[in-house]
Amino acid sequence: MMGYTDRHFRVLMRMLAPRALIYTQMLTDEAVIRAQSYTQLFGIDHQLGGVVLQLGGCCPERLAMAARVAESYGYDAINLNVGCPSKKVQLANMGACLFKTPDIVARCLEAMKKVINIPITVKTRIGVDDWDQLEHAVDFIEPVLAAGCDGFIIHARKAWLKGLSPAQNRSIPKLNYARVLALQQYFSKAHMVINGGIHRYDQGMHWLQKFPQIMVGRQAPRQPQLIAQLAVQSDGPVKCAPTLIKYLKYVEQQLSSTPVHHMLRHCLGLYQGYPAARYWRTKVNESMCQGQQVDFDALISLADQYDKHI
Ligand SMILES: Cc1cc2nc3c(=O)[nH]c(=O)nc-3n(C[C@H](O)[C@H](O)[C@H](O)COP(=O)(O)O)c2cc1C
Repeated sequence: MMGYTDRHFRVLMRMLAPRALIYTQMLTDEAVIRAQSYTQLFGIDHQLGGVVLQLGGCCPERLAMAARVAESYGYDAINLNVGCPSKKVQLANMGACLFKTPDIVARCLEAMKKVINIPITVKTRIGVDDWDQLEHAVDFIEPVLAAGCDGFIIHARKAWLKGLSPAQNRSIPKLNYARVLALQQYFSKAHMVINGGIHRYDQGMHWLQKFPQIMVGRQAPRQPQLIAQLAVQSDGPVKCAPTLIKYLKYVEQQLSSTPVHHMLRHCLGLYQGYPAARYWRTKVNESMCQGQQVDFDALISLADQYDKHI
């Protein structure tokens, strides 16, 4: 997710949930092809394992070049964004607007499939504007699947391309899970992943009975523990201090090149849902203000105390 799932967040998530599949935020094919500094753009994804690079683009040749770069960097899969409705993304003919041109998406898939061996999936919506009936989604998925797409992540909500901001497009209109189930039934041999509104452990477990995988968006940065619980399928509390110790070692290594708040902000939600979550956030906020002089030991001993009480 743009602005959230940056390279530091991915490191924290891997430490918290060793089995979870992690996605980068969308990077355009151009950004990947022209990446000046691997570390600044991607971080240490190649060491984490189980990371998917999400690409934005509509040009088969450029996407193929970017996919080749991604494979050479050790990504486990490529995901093409056909779900983002932002104006900027639409102007570049990327994201959700491609839902109306499945032939272009199919050509992009074919071009990428020709040059890489890792799986390629597509993240999309159940519909766009008035193209919101089951047959519209079928018309989109059919040629893309035939072009070799290895799976679909379906955000259970259609997108409005005009009149709504990207933020509104994540809550309006209502989620339509029945449509995702219908698509899964229609394409019974395809790998389908459900996304949208999975914010609690019981919801996650419910959908994991019906789909081989689920995708959690906003709740991952808000409450990273949820991903750890879902990954091991246990709603028991996750002790965060051991992960924090590892993550703060990573933060320390990065301090010379990265402002501390870029990295510590991902720890704000660690105790979300538990007593005194707000006090924890206050303390993390204070640590972010300490800049390079940050007192790691104080945070670790506070996490130890929280772990004893959850
Ligand atoms: C701030 C923000 C940035 C996002 N950026 C991306 C993105 O880069 N690529 C993408 O496929 N989805 C992006 N999304 C959408 C989420 O991945 C997800 O599909 C959506 O929020 C619905 O799932 P949720 O209810 O679990 O959050 C973003 C969402 C938010 C809130």
